Amino acid sequence: SSAGSGESCGPFFSALEPTDADDLVLAEGFSYTVLLSSGDSLGDGMSFGDHNDYLAYLPIDAPEGGASSTDGLLWVNHEYLNPLFFSDYDDPFGASKTEKTKEQIDREKGAVGGAVVRVRREESGWTFVEGDGYNRRIDATTPMDLTGPARGSEAVMGATEVTGSLANCGGGLTPWNTVLSCEENFQDYYGQFTGEDGEPRFGTTEEPEDFDIAATYRWLDDPENAQPPEHYGWVFEVDPFDPASKPRKHSWLGRLRHENAAVTLAPDGRVVVYTGHDEVDQCIYKFVSSGKFEPGARESNLDLLTDGMLYVADFSTGTWNALDFEANPVFRDNGFADQGDVLTRVYEAAALPADPSDDDSQPLGTPMDRCEDIEVHPETGQVYCALTNNEAHGNFYGQIIRMTEENNDPTAGKFTFEVFAAGGPQTGFAAPDNLMFDAQNNLWVVTDMSSSAMNEGIYTSFRNNGAFMLPTDVDGGISAGEVFQFASAPVAAELTGPALTPDGQTLFLAVQHPGETSKSRDEPTSTWPGGPGTAPRSSVVAITGPFPAA
Ligand code: FEO
Ligand code: CA
Ligand code: CA
Ligand code: CA
Repeated sequence: SSAGSGESCGPFFSALEPTDADDLVLAEGFSYTVLLSSGDSLGDGMSFGDHNDYLAYLPIDAPEGGASSTDGLLWVNHEYLNPLFFSDYDDPFGASKTEKTKEQIDREKGAVGGAVVRVRREESGWTFVEGDGYNRRIDATTPMDLTGPARGSEAVMGATEVTGSLANCGGGLTPWNTVLSCEENFQDYYGQFTGEDGEPRFGTTEEPEDFDIAATYRWLDDPENAQPPEHYGWVFEVDPFDPASKPRKHSWLGRLRHENAAVTLAPDGRVVVYTGHDEVDQCIYKFVSSGKFEPGARESNLDLLTDGMLYVADFSTGTWNALDFEANPVFRDNGFADQGDVLTRVYEAAALPADPSDDDSQPLGTPMDRCEDIEVHPETGQVYCALTNNEAHGNFYGQIIRMTEENNDPTAGKFTFEVFAAGGPQTGFAAPDNLMFDAQNNLWVVTDMSSSAMNEGIYTSFRNNGAFMLPTDVDGGISAGEVFQFASAPVAAELTGPALTPDGQTLFLAVQHPGETSKSRDEPTSTWPGGPGTAPRSSVVAITGPFPAA
């Protein structure tokens, strides 16, 4: 059976029928509380940003080895924003090419980045704690250090410190209780790279673009405060338990449109981080640390991502190719200045030939169908990757692949792969985005059909975006890869950042960009969560109900 069958077929819930209702619809018996919505006060003059994406739940006692499921910190990415509702900008699709005011840009800089918020489960349900000492906002103005080979290099204009973070899509948690936050569509704000004339380029070519490229997000209307494009497209690490800590962008993880960062430990204690580049025909990477994780050795663990090596996946041979400037002459021969330059332009480095002497050589990294989230299976160590779609290849529904590292060692140089589940009308989901494993090894998948294509044409039968559960173990008559729809998103929204408490009894979800298709504030296409007469607001919810024990 599949999503939409309506039978009671899941191990603990009845699968939903797809729906286009303007509501967060959950499987029977489950209910949600809205914890925080776009613009809510966090106390101390801070407010919650817009377009919440990746979520991580950190038990408040985690640094002492605890696992509280009723008191913790939520990390929330704020990926981008709706200029119509968040900054009173009346040209949401860039049609009239209206410039933004400095005031609008400053508000938008405060809408992105991420947040730490204290959350508690009381008798009456989940609440967030306004004014809690851990509450923190990181936005497009927060100073951050740059680590690794790009630090101070010419590729980043000599910068050792950069200004803020933006386009924070997915992320990851480290075994030492820090959060990784990934800058994805950074090119929309200050550009993709600095052109030869010193001006930013919004695409990947030297051609200057028209104003209307990325017109809804670009911040160059405030030229005095414009930042170099090379300072974005990184992954930053932050310690949510130390509100005064300075976030660090780790250049060893490369500069690209990072969807996420999935962290795992090798048998020898080295740290491996998988990250996908969410752009048509771009690659999957992994970082392997030089140092080893040692439980309790907090100071040295905090430096594990500052030294190691970055690899790119060649699916034609099942090889992880090192992007090592010293070891491989192809980078110097193609105009890269040093390791920092390779990491700053890593998508160009990955496109170089694996064998420069062979005209027909494969590139170092295989172009993929838009890699979204990656998660490591908690028991098997297999690496699950959501490839959301690639219209250029006629791949409209996407698929989830799983990679198996040689000897199940994440530091391996070789891997195999297979398709785990394919999107489409038969399976009931399309455009997989974020992934999460629960304690029963079920894979949770949320979908991101773009709001402009949803409920139309080949996407009609899927209705709104949703959250789905796919068992990975054969158990109780349920086959691996079967698909059960658990939740359906409000109009034009996607569901992002699924995160469970350690006891498995609460599922946090971020409802991102409801009503994104609205062309005016008077006629929003969604009024979730406030209901008729209100503006749509991205919100984080806590879902409770008959979840199985972890
Ligand atoms: Fe921001 Fe690739 O999703
Ligand atoms: Ca995503
Ligand atoms: Ca995930
Ligand atoms: Ca998305």
